[in-house]
Amino acid sequence: MSHTIESILTENRVFPPSEAFKAQATINDAKYQELKDKAETDYVGFWSDLAREKLSWSKDFSVGLDDSKAPFYKWFTDGELNASYNCIDRHLEEKEYKNAIIFEADDGSTETYTYKDLHDEVCRLANALVAKGVEKGDRVIIYMPMIPQAVFAMQACARIGAIHSIVFGGFSAEALKDRIEDAGAKMVITADGGFRGGKTVALKNAVDEALEKGGRSVESVIVYERTKQAVKMKAGRDITWNDAIAGMSNYHHAVMVNAEHPLFLLYTSGSTGKPKGIQHSTGGYLLNAHLTNEWVFDLKNDDVFWCTADVGWITGHTYVAYGPLSMGMTIVMFEGVPTYPDAGRFWKVCQDHAVTVFYTAPTAIRALMKFGSDLPKQYDLSKLRLLGTVGEPINPEAWIWYHDVIGRGECPIVDTWWQTETGAHMIAPLPGVTALKPGSCTKPLPGIDAHIVDEEGTELTHGEGGYLVIRKPWPSMVRTIWNDDARFVETYFAMFKNKYYVVGDSAHLDTDGNFWIMGRIDDVLNVSGHRLGTMEIESALVSHPAVVEAAVVGRPHDVKGEAIAAFVVLSNNLNEAAEKAAMVQELREWVAKEIGPIAKPDEIRFGTNLPKTRSGKIMRRLLRGIAKGEDLCGDTSTLEDPTILAQFMEKH
Ligand code: PRX
Repeated sequence: MSHTIESILTENRVFPPSEAFKAQATINDAKYQELKDKAETDYVGFWSDLAREKLSWSKDFSVGLDDSKAPFYKWFTDGELNASYNCIDRHLEEKEYKNAIIFEADDGSTETYTYKDLHDEVCRLANALVAKGVEKGDRVIIYMPMIPQAVFAMQACARIGAIHSIVFGGFSAEALKDRIEDAGAKMVITADGGFRGGKTVALKNAVDEALEKGGRSVESVIVYERTKQAVKMKAGRDITWNDAIAGMSNYHHAVMVNAEHPLFLLYTSGSTGKPKGIQHSTGGYLLNAHLTNEWVFDLKNDDVFWCTADVGWITGHTYVAYGPLSMGMTIVMFEGVPTYPDAGRFWKVCQDHAVTVFYTAPTAIRALMKFGSDLPKQYDLSKLRLLGTVGEPINPEAWIWYHDVIGRGECPIVDTWWQTETGAHMIAPLPGVTALKPGSCTKPLPGIDAHIVDEEGTELTHGEGGYLVIRKPWPSMVRTIWNDDARFVETYFAMFKNKYYVVGDSAHLDTDGNFWIMGRIDDVLNVSGHRLGTMEIESALVSHPAVVEAAVVGRPHDVKGEAIAAFVVLSNNLNEAAEKAAMVQELREWVAKEIGPIAKPDEIRFGTNLPKTRSGKIMRRLLRGIAKGEDLCGDTSTLEDPTILAQFMEKH
């Protein structure tokens, strides 16, 4: 299977929407034109009208966009609303008994929660948080498995105006501690553990470890008993979920907050060692979350929407917890993994819950495709009407398989390009309008002013490649990096002197105006759709006592998109193969402990020094070449010591 840029660039198959899909689509050609025209002639009015039409406000706003402190943009500034009210309460009159969440556990058992159930669960927990002293503006860390209680926790925070920050359950105690400390969290909501692929995974232990090492701001920990495994409960600090909500009312009056009040922080990797706390607003974020579910997923009242992302990532925020619920949809939540008990699990879940719209990552499609087409054919996938992908470019081969085998050759595939920072889809097809090209995320959504520019910031026309940038601010954009305004400006706006939001990806425009994402321009890796900083992994490696220096690069990988290759200099050289193999193991475990298993290097190579220029700069280009298995006979004359390349050619 080829996953190269070349294979994407030579792709020229086009899939226009079928007449049948077009006829029922919420956004058809006429509506699309109307939205685009309005966005062009009255940009702020375009977003303001949509904000009033789609969201419920307790206080209307008089200012659409405040750009007086650009690039710290504010939207709907003097308006007030509550995200949880918008996701739950306003649906109750008509949808009290409609399913909000269909949950399938790892072991196949299922639970359903109607909008009324969701309301009651969220209100009880909101009251429990208040009873524990959590106030508007306080930060709450959520470290949970993929179970409905994770969504209840998010909604409960939003309901009282507390700012949640979810830490993916696969991150280690160390990573959790860093995030708790950066956010200055008052509370942690966690579970004893979770179930994945028939195994029990511990979570509470990591919270204990994180709080032993630091995180002094945390006053209380709520523990949902999921696995019933033995955990330590610290008196005065820890309380079980059931004890916390015992006797709490199922009514809570949602606290209305300013549109700019932070709804959540989500930590993501950048080019430096320290993950950054991406801060999202309430009003602007919710607007784009709502709209993109309506426009891109074409969600209608009868749809059953399954986004497979964990709530620990932005995709789980916007397309599990907030967007579809804001629209009053039924969502599926799945606790397990795609290959347990076998690689037909995703398709079985789609069949059993009559999923109509399915959204997953290319890495999952590539992994499942390896098991062949017979497995999905054993399930009734006839209810599916739309498919989506996110997180990385999808190679045309995987696109075609997804389209033909999962989508019966009929379902449109929306390849959605966006980021933690953008809050919601930015460049994506409108399935009733856009002609699809496998491997392209197609065109910017109405109101999204995306361009490709060269080094000087000159906007490039069709057919060229360069830096992907967004010119005009949009409602769901990142507001700042928590505690670090300077880094916010530096990371996203400095490159072109505040004229553009700089995405960090390079892209190419074809002659039809379709965008093709080529990859990151910075030191960020995309491993199985997960974003990891090379510096973050390097810092973890260097913190091991035996490591003097380390450099990490990505290399193409058939299933994961990118794999992690680490080049390490040890304080004491190892000569024996067995010693080296043991050290590789030790360092992989070390990284898992420092960051999480997702950051474990796929391969580690040892040398006596890193390849550096005479001025001391690490030559990452060469390391990338070695990792890819390229023959490096090329010009290495600028290297301080050319002999060390040979050492790194050896794999362990
Ligand atoms: O490089 C792009 C890639 O994922 C990055 C954003 O990662 P993260 O903030 O973790 O959010 C992932 C889920 C939205 C982007 O800068 N990326 C995301 N979607 C696509 C993509 N690359 C190509 N095609 C996509 N559809």
